[in-house]
Amino acid sequence: MKILMVTSEAVPFAKTGGLADAVSALAVSLEKLGHEVAVVMPRYYRIDRSRLELLPGPMAVHLGGQEIWTGVYKSSLPDSSVPVYFIDHEQSFGRDGIYGVPGETDFNDNPVRFSILGQAVFQLCRKLHWFPDIIHAHDWASALAPILLKFNERHGEFAGTASVFTIHNIGYQGVYSKHFFPYTGLAWDNFYSAGFEDWDRMNFLKAGIFSADKLTTVSPTYAREIQMPEYGFRLDGILRFRSGDLTGILNGVDTDIWNPSTDKLIPQTYTAKTISKKAVNKIELQKRMNLAVDESIPVIGIITRLADQKGVSELFGPAYGSAYQICSDMKLQMVVLGSGEAWCENELSSLASRLPNFRTYIGFNESLSHLIEAGSDFFLMPSRYEPCGLNQMYSLLYGTLPIVRRTGGLADTVENYNEQTGTGTGFVMDNLNPSSIYNTVGWAIYAWYNKKEHINAMRLRGMEKKFGWDTSALNYVKVYESALKK
Ligand code: ADP
Ligand code: GLC
Repeated sequence: MKILMVTSEAVPFAKTGGLADAVSALAVSLEKLGHEVAVVMPRYYRIDRSRLELLPGPMAVHLGGQEIWTGVYKSSLPDSSVPVYFIDHEQSFGRDGIYGVPGETDFNDNPVRFSILGQAVFQLCRKLHWFPDIIHAHDWASALAPILLKFNERHGEFAGTASVFTIHNIGYQGVYSKHFFPYTGLAWDNFYSAGFEDWDRMNFLKAGIFSADKLTTVSPTYAREIQMPEYGFRLDGILRFRSGDLTGILNGVDTDIWNPSTDKLIPQTYTAKTISKKAVNKIELQKRMNLAVDESIPVIGIITRLADQKGVSELFGPAYGSAYQICSDMKLQMVVLGSGEAWCENELSSLASRLPNFRTYIGFNESLSHLIEAGSDFFLMPSRYEPCGLNQMYSLLYGTLPIVRRTGGLADTVENYNEQTGTGTGFVMDNLNPSSIYNTVGWAIYAWYNKKEHINAMRLRGMEKKFGWDTSALNYVKVYESALKK
């Protein structure tokens, strides 16, 4: 099968979150299964042109009424021959930031920028004389591709092409003034017929959900949750309407990158059999973060976007967040790596100045994220909602017990500890509020000091888990086949 991935992020080129990991890993896994896969994304400023191959000739993109000229650069995903095509349009993408920059979290011309991406998909295929069986788009910024396929392009070379749209996060929908609608290149009729209309504004994600042949999201539980008002962010109705076309497929883990036995970013590799060596990483983490070096004190790690989705208000909210009380009352250390909302960054610094056992690194730091996974004893992720979540899976594989809220992919990957039998792979809370976080962390710390044999057995159980992308890729192939039959 020929599959074209349309995305706004892909590692190692541009990443704000798990979307970038998921798209690249899926593309490579599909290629390993024998499919012909390509990726298309914008050439952001931060992607160094000198390391890319420039394809000859400019490429015209019709941007509602007007025609703009773009360049196309090419590279490939590491350890694969999956080509990545970068759409180069300096005015739109030649600036810092993927969707925005601190202080301007959503560029006001984003509907134009991502209309260019959607339109460029079809021009690129024509330029390459390569026509995919499947156009697979991810999240709102790529949603225009399946919409254009359905309403403008499904003829000629694209007559047999089907589309799949994956929702990685329904909290980000791409909602803008309808004055931007003409940039999509669609007729005004399609404002309603393609499902864009949202209280008289245009909603890219909604139209993508409405228009794609098949829909997926990144865990079975999240596929159910988004059909309910509590989690659907106002799109639960349309998702119930399309329920028969929606599948939840759990993301995998790229074990070339996240594997404690081969990880090059940690001081000491280890396996389930040599788990005692994990302590070397803990000591290094304590040193690096300027904490008391003591193997017997449990370390809780957190790596996260500082966004409401991740439960950061309940954890770090000024005055009411639970982190201060947890660190004051319990004999533990807490290490937080994150960046995002300004109030939260400030609060983290303030906590670090008031608590001897709380340390934080504000910013994005790949190697520290590996050290935290390897060096912590527990990993805290009390998400309000979590489509899949990657860090709890990394944690399981690194023998670091996850403490999570029962939602989305967290519910699908972490089994709650049973104190009587010692079974489980982590600690699970049902509610999101400061006291349930406090109590669940307290329960985990109690087990650390009093039920060591349970903790050790849980660690080994987690390390044996398989989160291979190969299984997920096979499930995507089934969805592609059903899309082609539609
Ligand atoms: P989301 O995509 O919602 O942010 P995921 O758990 O799917 O959540 O993926 C987050 C990814 O981003 C993980 O690979 C995580 O390690 C990484 N990450 C998040 N924040 C940081 C940070 N400050 N520094 C390094 N890596 C980070
Ligand atoms: C989103 C979700 C996260 C998921 C990731 C990759 O950013 O918030 O839960 O793991 O996409 O699918």
